[in-house]
Order: sequence, then structure tokens, then C-alpha cells
Amino acid sequence: MAMKSFSVFFFVLLLASPILQVARCQSEAEADVAEAVEGGELGIVGEEAQDFGSGNFDSAPGVETLCLFPKNSAKLVSAGEETELLVGVENVGESPVNVIAITASVHLPFDHRMLVQNLSAQAFNNASVPPSKQATFPYIFAVSKYLQPGTFDLVGNIFYEIDQHPYQSTFYNGTIEVAEAGGFLSVESVFLVTLGIALLVLFGLWLHGQFQRISKKTKRAPKVEVGTRTTDTSLDEWLQGTAYTQSASKSKKKK
Ligand SMILES: *[C@@H]1O[C@H](CO)[C@@H](O)[C@H](O)[C@H]1NC(C)=O
Ligand SMILES: *[C@@H]1O[C@H](CO)[C@@H](O)[C@H](O)[C@H]1NC(C)=O
Ligand SMILES: *[C@@H]1O[C@H](CO)[C@@H](O)[C@H](O)[C@H]1NC(C)=O
Repeated sequence: MAMKSFSVFFFVLLLASPILQVARCQSEAEADVAEAVEGGELGIVGEEAQDFGSGNFDSAPGVETLCLFPKNSAKLVSAGEETELLVGVENVGESPVNVIAITASVHLPFDHRMLVQNLSAQAFNNASVPPSKQATFPYIFAVSKYLQPGTFDLVGNIFYEIDQHPYQSTFYNGTIEVAEAGGFLSVESVFLVTLGIALLVLFGLWLHGQFQRISKKTKRAPKVEVGTRTTDTSLDEWLQGTAYTQSASKSKKKK
């Protein structure tokens, strides 16, 4: 009974982590990205197509951006491996917005002037967002595989033109968690597995204690009932002087 409820509890614990994560991502995705780009209008040209000036442009007032890490609410990035994020662009202005490219860079969180890495640029060709429409642009990046695991700041910029005038917006300026290459263990799952193991050990100890109690009881029971010394002489030897022998001799005296 206890065993059964325990194992159910344990499996629920193990299963809960990924389910919770998926649920969180879905709600995030549903809330933020209502419409994606209508089929194939994005002309993805390739990486490093041009060198985009380093933060010289203003952002246009009629453009709103948001950033989403699909299926990765922890913003966990494996060093050296590709990670995808989605940049949502909403055109609340009156002219079409021509998205040109997305770039990003990695900085030290405690000092933004310390640039760790320039990430590759993703260029788009004739990716136009008409007025009062929104579109989502993918950006795939990989931080250096030599980056130490830890927290870094990612600054993502999107470059676009409105009426041939260049602008840029920062769509993300926040932290990412860099994990060691190939390390897929999140902090959460490590915690849950550790908790599970600890619970298992505790349960094992408890079970051990229960067994000892039960075996003591069963050893005592026949002896008290029979009340003779013909059996268990060996048992008596190592029980000499314990509470058990004392109580046994007491009951004998009563007879
Ligand atoms: C990153 O890019 C900026 C601007 O493009 C440049 O000034 C800087 O030297 C680059 N840094 C590294 C480490 O590549
Ligand atoms: C972009 O594509 C539209 C049609 O999808 C076309 O009318 C327009 O001329 C193109 N613009 C450029 C700069 O290629
Ligand atoms: C990003 O945020 C940091 C502080 O949180 C700030 O110093 C930095 O200027 C910001 N960068 C951009 C491009 O907005």
C-alpha cells in the first residue's frame, strides 16, 4: 500500500517536470505569436550577408517587437549548438516595414560593455510586413562552444527599413543560460532527480526499520505463547541480560 502510493508519487514527480515545461511554453507561444508569416514570404538569404552598423539607427515608433524562445522557456543555450528564437514584428504604423536582418551579441551580465561574442547575422530579402500586420522571423544562433557555462546577456537587434529609411530595434536584452555542450540536464531535472533519489533512500530506511520491527515481533510472539525453554536456546544466549530475557524470567516466576 505504502509502496504503491510512494511509487505513484515518485513517477508523478519525474513526469511533472517536462509536462510543466511544455504547458508553460504553449501558453507563452499562444499568447504572444498569434500569426506567423504567411507561407514563404520570408526570403532568408543567409548568414553574414552584410555588415550591419553597430547600433547607429533609431527604432521606428510604429514597430513593436517581441522575442520568444520556442520550447525553451528557461532560455537555455547549449554552447556550440544551434538555438532558435523567434522575433515577432508588429507593424502598427502606416507604411510597410521591410525587415532586412537580425543580429545578436553576447555580453557579460555585470558589464554590458564587455562583448563576449558577435553572433552570426541572419539576413532577409524583401520580407515585408504590411501595415497593421504582424510576422514572425526565425533567428538561429550558436554561442561559442568554448563559452563557460553560466548566465550571459543576449542583445538582439532587428534591422529594417521604412520608406527606404533604415531603423533598428532591440527585440531582446536579457539573460540566457549557457550550458555545457551536450549537457541537456536542466537545473529543474537535476533537482527532481536528486529529490527522487533522496526520497527513495528515505523510504528504504523507513522500510528497513519496519522490517526490523516486524521481525522482532514475530520472534517474540511464539516464545511468549509457548512459554517453554525447550526451543530457542541459541536465541536466549544472545538475548542474555536484555529486556526480553528479564521479562521472560519474570513471567516464569509468576507461573
Ligand atoms: C563585434 O562587432 C562589432 C561591430 O560590428 C565590432 O566593433 C566588434 O569588434 C566585434 N567584436 C568581436 C569580438 O568580434
Ligand atoms: C517584394 O515583393 C513584392 C511582391 O511580393 C514585390 O511587389 C516588390 O517589388 C518586392 N520588393 C523588392 C525590393 O524586391
Ligand atoms: C541592455 O540592458 C543593459 C542593462 O540592463 C543596458 O546597460 C544596455 O544599454 C542595454 N542594451 C541595449 C542595446 O538596450
